[in-house]
Amino acid sequence: MASVFFLIAFIFLIKLKLNHANGAPNCGPTVANDTDRIQFALNLEFLEAEFFLNSALGHGLDSIDPSYAQAGPPPIGAKKANLDPLVRQIIEEFGYQEVGHLRAIITATGGIPRPQLDLRAETFANIFNQAFGFKLTPPFDPYLNTINYLLASNLIPYVGLVGYVGTIPELKSSHFRRLVAGLLGVEAGQDAVLRALLYERANEKVMPYDMTVAEFTNRTAELKNRLAMCGIKDEGIIVPLSLGAENRTNDNILSANTDSLSYAWTPPEILRIVYGTASEYKPGGFYPNGAGGNIARRYLSPA
Ligand SMILES: *[C@@H]1O[C@H](CO)[C@@H](O)[C@H](O)[C@H]1NC(C)=O
Ligand SMILES: *[C@@H]1O[C@H](CO)[C@@H](O)[C@H](O)[C@H]1NC(C)=O
Ligand SMILES: *[C@@H]1O[C@H](CO)[C@@H](O)[C@H](O)[C@H]1NC(C)=O
Repeated sequence: MASVFFLIAFIFLIKLKLNHANGAPNCGPTVANDTDRIQFALNLEFLEAEFFLNSALGHGLDSIDPSYAQAGPPPIGAKKANLDPLVRQIIEEFGYQEVGHLRAIITATGGIPRPQLDLRAETFANIFNQAFGFKLTPPFDPYLNTINYLLASNLIPYVGLVGYVGTIPELKSSHFRRLVAGLLGVEAGQDAVLRALLYERANEKVMPYDMTVAEFTNRTAELKNRLAMCGIKDEGIIVPLSLGAENRTNDNILSANTDSLSYAWTPPEILRIVYGTASEYKPGGFYPNGAGGNIARRYLSPA
């Protein structure tokens, strides 16, 4: 019996290694318990909280309640953004919403230490360079003005939203499903607000680059799909009819599948995106030392 178990475990490990070595992406389900799945989401909630709070207020989570970080280091490079009053107010509200999300998840699961977050302008500049396939000059600065900030923010709640859509069907306990349904609703709302604000400006040029807001959203959506490696699960705000609602619209304020249902991303897909490396094994991007919690650490343990 034991030898059969070891044989299966051995074959599984070989397969894992081969997949990793070939670069064949894992698009299948993730094996994990409810606690690990919900703690995984804390990585994104910390990212959102720090990005929104710092950008709107000039200070982050530690100024509100230092206990949430559980001694994890403060983020690098977060700062107040140069936002118009309307957007600043919206982002402040989003920041406080993330504090509530952190509290709800920490209360339900005990939480994890805040991972090291890299929110330097350079980190965003790299992502946009990757999205376009060439170096933008001057480097893209998310903190420079409202349009840049909206484009940068568009990278973030969407990942949370699509991650939560993927999480809910996997959860065993109705207590946790209720929690994640509540988180999903607000992340979806944040994403909708950001996309609507971008849509209003769809045909404006992003200065000083000779490209529109719509082109930027297309490129970053394409980048996320490329990094996640499991098909089209993010879309720009202006799209070919084939990606529009019922194949009848080029306007695409919300990103969704053929039946206008939200897409779902698994934890490895999310890690490939937020690390910016297309590999859940290779940290980088917003998480220079990797994300926290059992699911993310599983991919980081030395082979
Ligand atoms: C969930 O799985 C982790 C291992 O990934 C384990 O340490 C933890 O005790 C499990 N939690 C529950 C509540 O079963
Ligand atoms: C990006 O734009 C191109 C050209 O219109 C289109 O073919 C593609 O489907 C768009 N991708 C996304 C993810 O919106
Ligand atoms: C839209 O077009 C796609 C092919 O691009 C097709 O698979 C899908 O069924 C169409 N949807 C509707 C509602 O007609």
